[in-house]
Amino acid sequence: MRKFGLLGLSAILLVAMSGSAFAEGDATKGKAAFLVCAACHQIGPGAKTLIGPELNGVVGRKAATVADYPMYSAGMKKLGADGWVWTEENIDKWIANPKAMIPDSTMALAFPGVADAGQRADIIAFLKTNPAP
Ligand code: HEC
Repeated sequence: MRKFGLLGLSAILLVAMSGSAFAEGDATKGKAAFLVCAACHQIGPGAKTLIGPELNGVVGRKAATVADYPMYSAGMKKLGADGWVWTEENIDKWIANPKAMIPDSTMALAFPGVADAGQRADIIAFLKTNPAP
């Protein structure tokens, strides 16, 4: 009985930990979940700028640095000038609620964000499978 109780406790701790730590997502699920981004962003071989900048190699990329993208908002340009890098944590924050981060961003106007943390982790895992060419 006592042993069972301890096991139960460690299971609860594990769940609590995976909730707080930055969980690694599933790239295959992320590819499907990326469909909500694909309305505006291309990624993968030959990806071009669409409504949003192409996202190859975006994990680790400095903000607002796609040379042929003409529509960066003032807020996004300022982030880039301040040296903001799209780490996994920063992308997570951005796609959770774009408006909270850059109220004047074109992306924030048209996209409310992805509420589900697991789905965001999956999308970020998928982004990582698409390095800069
Ligand atoms: C309605 C169109 C739209 C959707 C949907 C959208 N984005 Fe964007 N995204 C944009 C636009 C426009 C920008 C440029 C924003 C700016 O300059 O403020 C952008 C910028 C970005 C940037 C910064 C790029 C850079 O070069 O600095 C990232 C990262 C990004 N989006 C990821 C995503 C992801 C991941 C999703 C899906 C979860 C997504 N976006 C969904 C339109 C969109």
